[in-house]
Amino acid sequence: MGIVTAFPVELVPSILSADFARLADEVHAAERGGGTAIHVDVMDGHFVPNITLGPPVVQSLRKHTKLPLDCHLMIENPDNFIPAFAEAGANWISVHYEACRHLHRTIQLIGQHGMEPGVVLNPATPIDLLIPVLPMLHHVLIMSVNPGFGGQEFIPYSLQKLRDLRALRNQMGLRFRIEVDGGVGHDTIAEVVAAGGELLVAGSAVFAQGNAEQDARRLLDAARTAEHSARELHA
Ligand code: DX5
Ligand code: ZN
Repeated sequence: MGIVTAFPVELVPSILSADFARLADEVHAAERGGGTAIHVDVMDGHFVPNITLGPPVVQSLRKHTKLPLDCHLMIENPDNFIPAFAEAGANWISVHYEACRHLHRTIQLIGQHGMEPGVVLNPATPIDLLIPVLPMLHHVLIMSVNPGFGGQEFIPYSLQKLRDLRALRNQMGLRFRIEVDGGVGHDTIAEVVAAGGELLVAGSAVFAQGNAEQDARRLLDAARTAEHSARELHA
């Protein structure tokens, strides 16, 4: 089976592990290192046991980068906040399947506010639940850790979910992107890419050592090497 509709890999640095007091500099460094979208983790202390940031930080970031702002909403009642994120300058909005009682309506709402919709699945949530809405999506985000914190260990079963999602996309003839988030680093990135990960979110692997430019570049190089091997294998 060939990779019919694969998109080129992209590195999406997650600012969760950045120095929040130097956010613009951190984002610029990750951008110089090859990051092509910026992942913004929004946590409310209810859906996940942690609190981070909201629309005001997105608004500030917007002034300092032209890259798409990929907002991962780990919050309850996301519909209440979608207009504020649009106003702040968010480009992509990902909502959790587990947090949306009326997922179809929420996806429509994101589009109505001029943003690209994505749905996120927790590690224990099966991909088949998304079949009815897949044609509406810009991306699907597979969580490869339980959401809430950076620096956690990659859950190996996520690789099977990535493979299955890629096969499902081919089968349905769709063009949503496959994003993966959690534990993506030097030790896991080759397997993640081989399994079908395209938008590669990385927080601690980019920011934890204080050299975001160099660490982003190394990670992207490793991803591209893995992508190259995967294409040769399927050629
Ligand atoms: C976790 C967040 C991730 C986090 C990943 O809930 O959604 O985006 O930044 O961090 P690492 O890459 O360190 O696992
Ligand atoms: Zn995230």
